[in-house]
Amino acid sequence: MKPVEIKKDIYWVGAVDWDIRDFHGYSTYKGSTYNAYLAKDEKVALFDTVKKPFYMDLMHRIHNVMKPEDIDYLVVNHMEMDHSSSLPQVVEAIKPSKIYTSKMGAKSMAAHYKIDNWPVEAVGSGDTMSLGERTINFLETRMVHWPDSMFSYIPEEKLLISSDGFGQHWATSERFDDEVDNEELMRQAAKYYANILLLYSPLIQKLLQSVTEMGLEIDMIAPDHGLIWRSNPGQIIKAYDTWSQQKATAKALVIYSTMWHSTEMMAKAVYDGLLDEGLSVQLLNLDVVHRSDVLTEVLDSKALVFGSPTLNNGMMPKMAELLHYLKGLKPTGKICGTFGSYGWSGEAPKLIAAELEAMKLTMVEDPVRVNWVPGHEALKPCHELGSKIGRMVAEENLPASCRAIFCGL
Ligand code: FEO
Repeated sequence: MKPVEIKKDIYWVGAVDWDIRDFHGYSTYKGSTYNAYLAKDEKVALFDTVKKPFYMDLMHRIHNVMKPEDIDYLVVNHMEMDHSSSLPQVVEAIKPSKIYTSKMGAKSMAAHYKIDNWPVEAVGSGDTMSLGERTINFLETRMVHWPDSMFSYIPEEKLLISSDGFGQHWATSERFDDEVDNEELMRQAAKYYANILLLYSPLIQKLLQSVTEMGLEIDMIAPDHGLIWRSNPGQIIKAYDTWSQQKATAKALVIYSTMWHSTEMMAKAVYDGLLDEGLSVQLLNLDVVHRSDVLTEVLDSKALVFGSPTLNNGMMPKMAELLHYLKGLKPTGKICGTFGSYGWSGEAPKLIAAELEAMKLTMVEDPVRVNWVPGHEALKPCHELGSKIGRMVAEENLPASCRAIFCGL
């Protein structure tokens, strides 16, 4: 298994997971990678490791560069087990003289593994360590993605090793951004942000500001998942700035679950109303669209309209699941409406509205409900719901949406 030299004497030695299809609730249809990096200087450091089943992939790649036991230091930027579950085997094989991690990382490490005889040294923002000609600057990045997370920056190479930040779950034979389709790359990066980091957007705004204030020169970003940003790292930094401000486009989603197609007919009427006001609209049936793909589309949408028939005095299970997931990821600034058909009690659209209000999203009006099967007249309030929301969005003069999710807003 070949390593890939990403800078002179700095190698990608990670693993590609072609099989993973679920990452704690996020659909990873295209697999993922667990990136690890080996920097050879007077001293040698290995940055992060891989998920346990891929331990031998990591070791084979390292062997193609040097003897693993000649590695001096381990840098553990993040303790989540997709990066650390091979750590006990790696420590045993390498016997590093130091294991650098954040203070929270050291606590987390002790809680995960038996580290009594490990040479752990906790570091924080501002701490540096020399490899010889190169220096490692540590930067704590709490909650990107766990409290222990940190970046490692090598100023002599203008290289930012960014742990979970700027990653994508995408298994590829290519390692660099300029070797793959940019639209797909940005879509995977957007999906990753929407499903993993959206709730930490205020912290990411602060992090981007502090990186700017520190004046870090960056010509390569090497994340722990997916492609390495070498051709234009500014593209993903700009995208993170946009996404963490939760900037939206003139785009609406009609998200629904249906029982006997009555709510589906209502969804289509809402869709027409939104379309008539000039918005880009997507009709997302939760029976066929995974919640994590819905979240990707939520990222740049201004309007979200939710529909569910009433089932057992509640909403359809897939709608309940989506709302639970959405609530945890904390989207802001959306204009919302709800609708649904019912037979005798009709609680679902009201319950959805209550959930959205609890998320502090803007509800435009009372839920639109239709008893049993909607006829032509009954669909008019649905169309009007879409039109009203569409007019509110149009008044904001937002930029048009684009298929790549990020078009330089
Ligand atoms: Fe890729 Fe938070 O682990």
